[in-house]
Amino acid sequence: MSQISFLNGKFVAASQAKVSVYDRGFLFGDAVYEVIPIYQSRPFRPQDHLDRLQNSLKAIALKLDYCDKYWHALIDQMIKKNNGGNLSLYIQITRGSEIERDHVGRADTEPTVLMMVSPLSTEIASLTPIKTTLLPDIRWKNCFIKTTALLGNVMLKQQASQAGYEEAILRRENIISEGTTSNVFMVKNGIIYTPIANQYILAGITREVIIEIAENASIKVIQQNITVEQLLDADEIWLSSSSREISPVTQIDDKIVAKGTIGPVTAKMHQLFQAFKRRLTGS
Ligand SMILES: Cc1ncc(COP(=O)(O)O)c(C=O)c1O
Repeated sequence: MSQISFLNGKFVAASQAKVSVYDRGFLFGDAVYEVIPIYQSRPFRPQDHLDRLQNSLKAIALKLDYCDKYWHALIDQMIKKNNGGNLSLYIQITRGSEIERDHVGRADTEPTVLMMVSPLSTEIASLTPIKTTLLPDIRWKNCFIKTTALLGNVMLKQQASQAGYEEAILRRENIISEGTTSNVFMVKNGIIYTPIANQYILAGITREVIIEIAENASIKVIQQNITVEQLLDADEIWLSSSSREISPVTQIDDKIVAKGTIGPVTAKMHQLFQAFKRRLTGS
């Protein structure tokens, strides 16, 4: 069964979804995006993703006249047309295609709107431990914008991968920001800590849900600056993202975390997260 994409107002076979080489997303990375997990045909926190999309669009002054109601309807249609199940729904909006390459975009250019899906692996719910490396955060200072201009993230993740690590945890000077594709959590003496959602990190939807369900379960969460020393002294560490949910960290470079196992708070949060998902899907 071939996949269906949405491009500029039309549903098309994924193989037929084509954009111009003059598209500003291609030429400048002048674009923003979202990734929404779909569990058993139900979008996970779609309004949160749409709110973040609106924030990203506003931050780059890109005007798109799609209201939330229309977005929700489009998401539902994408799920139906792709036969539901577990999917990862990708949305990208660029400042559109212009024949003359100019850093300044024209006000009358139609944005390019793309939605496409890929299968969402059910393995993400399996709590697989990962090894990480600590790297200097070489990215710009507007990491709260979910832009497709991801060269910094790509270079850092490649560096980590070539050294045999699944993810890089990033630091600005001595302060932890996030992973290249994830947010960072640590546990010390039963309290959960995570960096403040400022301009240096993307405020993850998974991060938000984890904070919410921890607090509902009376587990204390503190959002604050985390130093490299504090992270390396943590009892437990995990990374969060829509595509990996909760990934326990058992190693940062040569340092073994949580005795190389999955810590009790990490396991508890994983269990709460799965229960939260089950309530959403009614399963
Ligand atoms: C840089 C970065 N930080 C954090 C996240 C986690 O965000 P979310 O939980 O919304 O997937 C991502 C996800 O792609 C990311 O790319």
